[in-house]
Amino acid sequence: MKNHNIGASILSIPFLHFIDAYKRIVEAGVDFIHLDIMDGNFVPNLSFSPSISNEIKNIMPHVPFDIHFMMTSLGYQQTIKAFLALQPVRVSVHAEAFPVLNEIMKPIKEMHIQFGVAINPVTSIETILPWLHDLDFILLMSVNPGFGGQTFHPDVLDKARLLDSLRRKNQFRYLLEVDGGLHLSLIPALVECGIDLFVIGNDLVKQPEPREYIQSFRRLCQPVS
Ligand code: DX5
Ligand code: ZN
Repeated sequence: MKNHNIGASILSIPFLHFIDAYKRIVEAGVDFIHLDIMDGNFVPNLSFSPSISNEIKNIMPHVPFDIHFMMTSLGYQQTIKAFLALQPVRVSVHAEAFPVLNEIMKPIKEMHIQFGVAINPVTSIETILPWLHDLDFILLMSVNPGFGGQTFHPDVLDKARLLDSLRRKNQFRYLLEVDGGLHLSLIPALVECGIDLFVIGNDLVKQPEPREYIQSFRRLCQPVS
């Protein structure tokens, strides 16, 4: 894997132009597709059903899927099997919905899918300390989950710094992912704080030239000499 990966959150692609816009984003060179799954309960919104997600996956089956579950435990238990059939590379659930993670982490890891935990802007990292040694990644929400197009919460930078230093000190191997309100001017600071995976929705999917946008992202991730 490259050091820094960019993923497109496809929630904000206009539905009536979905297929063409989706292909354009993938062909522009994103590293992964971030699929936001919402249950109208954990968050006040709904997004993609398992069958729609399956159709999206089949548009270009080679693209890695990173699935972000914004669901309560019940919704998750009832749909996880169908979502796992899409063969995602990563799956994250929210710490606010799952105070204990062992039971759901195990079957995901056994399928060689990376398991991560997502935390909301107001949730402190103390909540996830017991799981750090086992996690493949941590998704730091930089907006309240539920909608694309919101404003970035800068507090996420401190959380990332702390998790990055804990990872170095303890030789944890989790990746750090950030999601919500991102735009290119934030990338250098986020790289500096240790972020590895960048989820970008509106700022990327509404670009007239997504290929150039992704090239700019890659340049911004280069260390300054
Ligand atoms: C919010 C979602 C995000 C969001 C990102 O609930 O988890 O993935 O769609 O979109 P932007 O970059 O527009 O905030
Ligand atoms: Zn998301």
